[in-house]
Amino acid sequence: MSCGVFAFSARAAAERLAQALGVPCRTVTVHRFPDGESLVRVEPSPETAFLYRSLDHPNDKLVELLLAVSALRANGAAKVVLIAPYLAYMRQDIAFHDGEAISQRVVGKLLADHFDGLLTLDPHLHRTRSLAAIMPRMEAASISAAPLLAAALDGSDDPLLVGPDGEARQWVERIARPLDLEFVVGRKLRTGDREVALAIPDAERARGRRVILVDDLISSGATLKVAARLLLDAGALRVEALATHCLAGEADLAELRRAGISHILATDSVASSVGQLPIADLLAEEIRRREWCR
Ligand code: R5P
Repeated sequence: MSCGVFAFSARAAAERLAQALGVPCRTVTVHRFPDGESLVRVEPSPETAFLYRSLDHPNDKLVELLLAVSALRANGAAKVVLIAPYLAYMRQDIAFHDGEAISQRVVGKLLADHFDGLLTLDPHLHRTRSLAAIMPRMEAASISAAPLLAAALDGSDDPLLVGPDGEARQWVERIARPLDLEFVVGRKLRTGDREVALAIPDAERARGRRVILVDDLISSGATLKVAARLLLDAGALRVEALATHCLAGEADLAELRRAGISHILATDSVASSVGQLPIADLLAEEIRRREWCR
């Protein structure tokens, strides 16, 4: 079975995956018309095409993905697998208020209708048990960055790990337990895109210690900003952050530094100026395990 990775303009991470798999990295070109429409063109495809695109800023990207998958099928692909290290629209998993769309289901079904498979990293599944529930009839796989993040963590000074809210419990547990590190989980009330209130039980355990905030996702940074202030007020020596995905832009990252977060480490699921751990080997391992590329 011949395989290849297809990359949009941000090629670096896709090239790393192609290298890890030992397959070529080909190009998806996008022309943007003056009216905002996109024209997508692909190079000839091998039997299996891995279309690599992280879905930060998803609205434009989703339309271009649908165009690309159709072009790949018309140009030789028998099977198209979406490699979306960051999978968007997973947080809106219920209608929180009357009249709201349940975006997770809509986007899940849209992808399942067009792709044969999907591989992602730490999707934000909270009330939904697995991707299979929202992506029917598709082989949807997710892997966790927790082992990679844990391996990068220096626990020699006995840091306290903090998951800022209940949704972060699954990630902070997966990192803290194998390293035998202490962790606490906070409670969060979100009242706006950038307005959150947090309570961290046992925050006094932070006194005189290095604290590492652990979350799946840094978006606006509001959650980590409030958590850092609280922990520094409680006497933490310094506060760092570890996350699978960092979507925050430069202005929000500057706010996080001002709030006292001295270092942020994430994976390279989304290009960012924070410290980044490459996920190519993790993705390649899962692709081989599933025999998507032999
Ligand atoms: C939600 O529960 C997630 O785990 C993150 O805590 C959240 O998405 C972070 O968003 P922000 O950085 O905008 O506070």
